[in-house]
Amino acid sequence: MAGSRMFWSASIFALALFVSSTTAQVSVWGQCGGTGYTGATTCASGLVCTEQNEYYWQCLPGTASTTVGSTTSTSRTTTSSTTSASSPASTCLTVDTTSHCGQWDNITAGPYSLLLDQWGSGGASSGSDCASLTSLCGSTIAWTNTWTWTGGTGVKSFTDIMLNQGLNKQLTAIKSIPSTWTWSQSSTGTVVADVAYDLFTSATPGGSNAYEIMIWLANYNAGPISYTYGSDGSPTPVASNLSLGGHTWNLYYGSNGSNYVYSFLPTSGTITSFSADLNLFLQYLSTSQTLSSSQYLTTVQAGTEATSGSATLTTTAYSVVVN
Ligand SMILES: *[C@@H]1O[C@H](CO)[C@@H](O)[C@H](O)[C@H]1NC(C)=O
Ligand SMILES: *[C@@H]1O[C@H](CO)[C@@H](O)[C@H](O)[C@H]1NC(C)=O
Repeated sequence: MAGSRMFWSASIFALALFVSSTTAQVSVWGQCGGTGYTGATTCASGLVCTEQNEYYWQCLPGTASTTVGSTTSTSRTTTSSTTSASSPASTCLTVDTTSHCGQWDNITAGPYSLLLDQWGSGGASSGSDCASLTSLCGSTIAWTNTWTWTGGTGVKSFTDIMLNQGLNKQLTAIKSIPSTWTWSQSSTGTVVADVAYDLFTSATPGGSNAYEIMIWLANYNAGPISYTYGSDGSPTPVASNLSLGGHTWNLYYGSNGSNYVYSFLPTSGTITSFSADLNLFLQYLSTSQTLSSSQYLTTVQAGTEATSGSATLTTTAYSVVVN
């Protein structure tokens, strides 16, 4: 079928890039190939260059089941052709799958950390928030977060997966931020929450937060931070019907007292299967809004901002990398 023919020719193009350059070694989780990629293609010892998609090949620990087990470019070409014909090879790492409920618990797995981050729990009259990792295969992580909060009007927790690698790049130096996120949520009663990416930028690498960029995939009776509101009390977007990453968004802008906040909200429905380059959103903000491209990307997180109610968020597949 046409789709697989296109896939094949893109794969062959990627392979051509592969064998044409040999320079520095790429460390764990780093990019080692893909359409349009011009950097180093040799993985450090013990790592296998593995296709995640036609644009992104990554150095992963261990040896894929279909790998013929060699580091020469000739046999890797064989391996790559084999694996791209079926599903991409991915090696699963052992992760801590126990439940964690502490206010600031931090469970690290590969390039990610699961953060409980119950920063507003003091505003609740009662509640709890627990999360556990499910798996980490290749660069794809899965987790579950069950929370219940009563009382107060503010956010209680932002339990999330944080990326620990590839950060503190200036926006002008970022080539892409491919990400996928597949999730579902079950809840009882009325829930006030969002499911969202949360990115921060700073004027200096690792510096204090200047801008927060949220990309909401779901809005459960919550609302974005905004400087302006309509006569009906609803926030007024600063831009409407933006087409980015395969979906349509309204953009809101405001401050939460400590940093500026841009929030992209889908114009309709809930996006439970998302796959796009997050850099498109940053590029839009730096070309069409006030985000300066001299800012540094300091934080990339994805999770649920929980205000009240009871819900379980189950993520079956999440991945993100900053190239
Ligand atoms: C979580 O732990 C990892 C590994 O020790 C560390 O790199 C990261 O900075 C921690 N994150 C937070 C928010 O504490
Ligand atoms: C956005 O699109 C919707 C649906 O097509 C339309 O009704 C609305 O007027 C648009 N908003 C703006 C500000 O263009």
